[in-house]
Amino acid sequence: MKIYGVNLAEQLQHEFPLEQWLELLSAERRDSLCRFKRWSDRLRSFTGECLIRNLAGAYLGCRPSEVRIAKESGGGKPVLPYAGMHFNVSHSGEWVVCAIDRCPVGIDVEEIKPIDLGIAERFFSADEYKALLTEPADRQIEMFYELWTLKESYLKQNGQGLSGGLDSFTVTRNGSGYNEVSGQCFFRLYEVDSRYKLSVCANHTEFPQEVIRLPLDHLLQEFR
Ligand SMILES: CC(C)(COP(=O)(O)OP(=O)(O)OC[C@H]1O[C@@H](n2cnc3c(N)ncnc32)[C@H](O)[C@@H]1OP(=O)(O)O)[C@@H](O)C(=O)NCCC(=O)NCCS
Repeated sequence: MKIYGVNLAEQLQHEFPLEQWLELLSAERRDSLCRFKRWSDRLRSFTGECLIRNLAGAYLGCRPSEVRIAKESGGGKPVLPYAGMHFNVSHSGEWVVCAIDRCPVGIDVEEIKPIDLGIAERFFSADEYKALLTEPADRQIEMFYELWTLKESYLKQNGQGLSGGLDSFTVTRNGSGYNEVSGQCFFRLYEVDSRYKLSVCANHTEFPQEVIRLPLDHLLQEFR
């Protein structure tokens, strides 16, 4: 498995000229990007696509534009229709991240923002909510985002997405890490940025040590 991250702070600040790059996409993909009302969401989604096309293209020995991306039936998880190549993308705030692996993988990044912990009572399992309340008050927001990203990475690993139900399974503390109670999946948290939480979920434990950072400019050189 490899995990990559692109920081978009500069492009978000200086109005990156996205329109000219969108012309290189298929009409269908342009339409799907335009479902995002905000320009910044389009940029994040475009960057995710750029990232996976570059990575898969390098692996397959073809141009990024020649990489095929399909969608799973059910939750609509984007997949690579090539044997033994799986990926997942996530974006939030300044970050776009992608995990690529030989087995199905899920990834979630979230910017830490002040939040009403009532959301945890509503969406987490009863045991997770109880565990959250036993944390010191100054750790609760951080743990909320750890649990949220872990749970979303789990639902993204199996392709269900949020329709799988965040409260349909439980993630528990295991030493310094976390486990899914049934033991079918494994997790790792990464510190890509102290203002964000990033979790990856897989059905094995061979996680890389770190997130490889790539600049968007580098990805665009290959994308044209
Ligand atoms: C996928 C989902 C979990 C994304 O959550 P999010 O925190 O908003 O977004 P993230 O940034 O973490 O991930 C977005 C990426 O996940 C991927 N993705 C989309 N559907 C996915 C799925 N079912 N499983 C895994 N990954 C998925 C895409 O690459 C997407 O990138 P894009 O938005 O640029 O196309 C959520 O939108 C979802 O549950 N979708 C599934 C379909 C669904 O249930 N729809 C409800 C219809 S009422």
